[in-house]
Amino acid sequence: ARKIIIDTDPGQDDAVAILLALASPDELDVLGITAVAGNVPLELTAKNARIVCELAGKTGVKVFAGCDAPLKRPLVTAEHVHGKTGLDGPTLPDPEMPLQDQHAVDFIIDTLRTEPVGTVTLCPLGPLTNVAAAFQRAPDIVERVQEIVLMGGAYFEVGNITPAAEFNIYVDPEAADIVFKSGVPLVVMPLDVTHKALVTKARNDAFRNLGSPVGVAVAEMTDFFERFDKEKYGSEGAPLHDPCVTAYLLRSDLFSGRHINVEIETVSDLTRGMTVADWWGVTDRAKNATFIGDLDADGFFTLLTERLARL
Ligand code: BDR
Ligand code: CA
Repeated sequence: ARKIIIDTDPGQDDAVAILLALASPDELDVLGITAVAGNVPLELTAKNARIVCELAGKTGVKVFAGCDAPLKRPLVTAEHVHGKTGLDGPTLPDPEMPLQDQHAVDFIIDTLRTEPVGTVTLCPLGPLTNVAAAFQRAPDIVERVQEIVLMGGAYFEVGNITPAAEFNIYVDPEAADIVFKSGVPLVVMPLDVTHKALVTKARNDAFRNLGSPVGVAVAEMTDFFERFDKEKYGSEGAPLHDPCVTAYLLRSDLFSGRHINVEIETVSDLTRGMTVADWWGVTDRAKNATFIGDLDADGFFTLLTERLARL
């Protein structure tokens, strides 16, 4: 199985991404889950990550708490999307499994130094603070990373937190800049693709009809999480942003994109956190990311529902 570290700020869609990974042990070996401040403050994301592991019945997964604020800026959160707890919707018990003592950044560094070169994939689902902090503190680990598959950015769909920027990149643009300039092979799931992974009524019913605690919780999470996008974008249901990352690791054939140059805006207040993506190849800047633009949505939801049924 492919070794991964999930770096996350749960978040209902983060939760579904984690459930999909934990439901797929033949393909994905989750070495650890590292929490970062983002949708809600760190204390809640570290708690929510454990709630999700317990919901999946995987209490042995190691969960680490990481950075509680972006590298250089005050934290911006998204309770207006995810609710006060970050995981509003279902009523789930407080976690009993422990948080690991080690800091998430130290865990990322140690793991990359210990595992053979090129065998660990990082899966960031929130602001890139933990990953960038690890790269800054231990530059030797950068070339040891197999790949980074992340949710963040937008190009044709532009922003969801400002007109120009997607939330994860906006919250910590300096961290994103470090990651996008790192030279690690990057696969990016921007809003352009995640806004096509919509939980329609029929897809929500399919989760609920699994009849399991996981199926019902996912239906309740996506019920809650759809308010924002229905109101703002008139979309048919909740966009499953972060599960695109774990689905890609299972079935990359469901996705298509282009290998292009992507730069992060860190200076302008107006366009802070914009992912300036050279989709049309109009510059000669070096290509640094595979920017995903499309997915087979039916294939994605079939995969997701089938995997959630295993939990
Ligand atoms: C991203 O921001 C968060 O609100 C979601 O969890 C997702 O990672 C979408 O812009
Ligand atoms: Ca997230």
